Amino acid sequence: MGNRVYIHTFGCQMNESDSQRMLEALRRDGWADAEAPEDADLILVNTCAIREKAEQKLYSALGRYKRQKGGGGALLGVAGCVAQQEKERLLRRAPFVDFVLGPDNLAALPELVAEARRGVRAGARTDWMDSSEYLFPRADPEQSRGRVTAFVTAMKGCDNVCSFCVVPRTRGREQSRPYAEIVSEVDDLVRVGVREVTLIGQNVNSFSGGCDFPELLRRVSSVPGLARLRFTTSHPQDFGEGLVRCFAELGSLRRHLHLPFQSGSDGVLERMRRGYTAAEYEAKVARLRASSPDVALTSDVIVGFPGETEDDFEATLGLLERVRFDNLYSFVYSSRPHTAARLRERDWGLVPEPVKLARLERLQAIQRRVTRELHERAIGTEVEVLVEGPSKSDPARRCGHTSENWVVHFEGDAEPGSIVRVRVEEATTASLGGRLASLVEPPLVPAAAPRHLPLPVVA
Ligand code: SAH
Ligand code: SF4
Ligand code: F3S
Repeated sequence: MGNRVYIHTFGCQMNESDSQRMLEALRRDGWADAEAPEDADLILVNTCAIREKAEQKLYSALGRYKRQKGGGGALLGVAGCVAQQEKERLLRRAPFVDFVLGPDNLAALPELVAEARRGVRAGARTDWMDSSEYLFPRADPEQSRGRVTAFVTAMKGCDNVCSFCVVPRTRGREQSRPYAEIVSEVDDLVRVGVREVTLIGQNVNSFSGGCDFPELLRRVSSVPGLARLRFTTSHPQDFGEGLVRCFAELGSLRRHLHLPFQSGSDGVLERMRRGYTAAEYEAKVARLRASSPDVALTSDVIVGFPGETEDDFEATLGLLERVRFDNLYSFVYSSRPHTAARLRERDWGLVPEPVKLARLERLQAIQRRVTRELHERAIGTEVEVLVEGPSKSDPARRCGHTSENWVVHFEGDAEPGSIVRVRVEEATTASLGGRLASLVEPPLVPAAAPRHLPLPVVA
């Protein structure tokens, strides 16, 4: 049997980051990357449970990989949030799966793979780790050489109680990573050439790893050589003055905030248990914009939450028109197992599927118009772009993100990792297009070896 691994990742940044850590651990164990699942000896599916569609995608992917397994005999493992939610049930439903691994158990991966290779069906590893024994997986700097951007985990789990959401069950209790670990991981990454770091967690503003979140941003932004700092996701309930000040004061903090609002109706927000009203949400946005008008704002919204009336929905559209988000991730409500909303949804009244879809279409039409208008304002100006590499749609062009997190495709030669100015010539709802105007900063020259900072004791 060969030693090539293919990881198929669904879901959010937490999963992308976990997939990266799993790949690094396997490479240290002698595995090489497979280009495609057909070439792999081990296939890992890192799954998402946030909406029903995400779960269905897992089962159709598993169906495809099963047929392959019949031919070539690749090992098949399922990780991530569906693994955590379904545990042994997944092994019963898909008996050709060799092992199941929850997000708290990434460290057990090499062992599970070794067992599977010996022909032992190891079962499901989905226990929660006690906070005192849990060690956050750390990026391998040697394997991060050549990367321009990286996610760094600030916290895991979620202690909120949003009634529609599976995450507290699939990711467990909220736990913050000690700030010194975060700072030293960022330092390692910058030393091998990484230019931009995004601190990730389901609710980063409730960070408590030895300091609060604004203080964490200050500490990370002072890592020498870090050009750009981002974070995601924030919860409006915990978004306050401290973060507003960070946007005003920290030079490397990029001009983008993702702040999900979910609904513009107070009745719906209450049933969602979000802990704020629409007016409070808008007041927070106004406060940020008064202090830093250049910060781009993106958000998440759910359409067709149980009991959502036409008036509730109009309130959501009203909020969209007033706030004018740069971009919006919009979803129709999906009923999820073991959530508070599922228990009450019949009392509140399920919104019929065609109504949900028609509302989604109306909302997305408004957002497309707003995004296009905001993007078109950039035509004729110059924007600063961190170059990530060739553009996927047209490899002759380069691609990167602006400070506001807008995607830019441009003509002209620029190395990945450099920061350039691009003259914007065209705009769509998805991206900006233009040509290279000037070089602002060349890529960092990576150090021979990362320096591990001594870890200060966390109070
Ligand atoms: N922690 C983040 C959200 C993580 S999930 C936060 O609280 O902001 C990403 C988005 O998926 C959510 O913001 C929500 O808009 C959407 N979502 C979550 N559960 C959903 C469900 N049951 N149905 C539809 N959309 C859902
Ligand atoms: Fe889910 Fe709410 Fe936690 Fe976000 S804050 S992960 S929506 S429970
Ligand atoms: Fe999905 Fe789990 Fe992320 S449910 S959105 S992969 S935390």
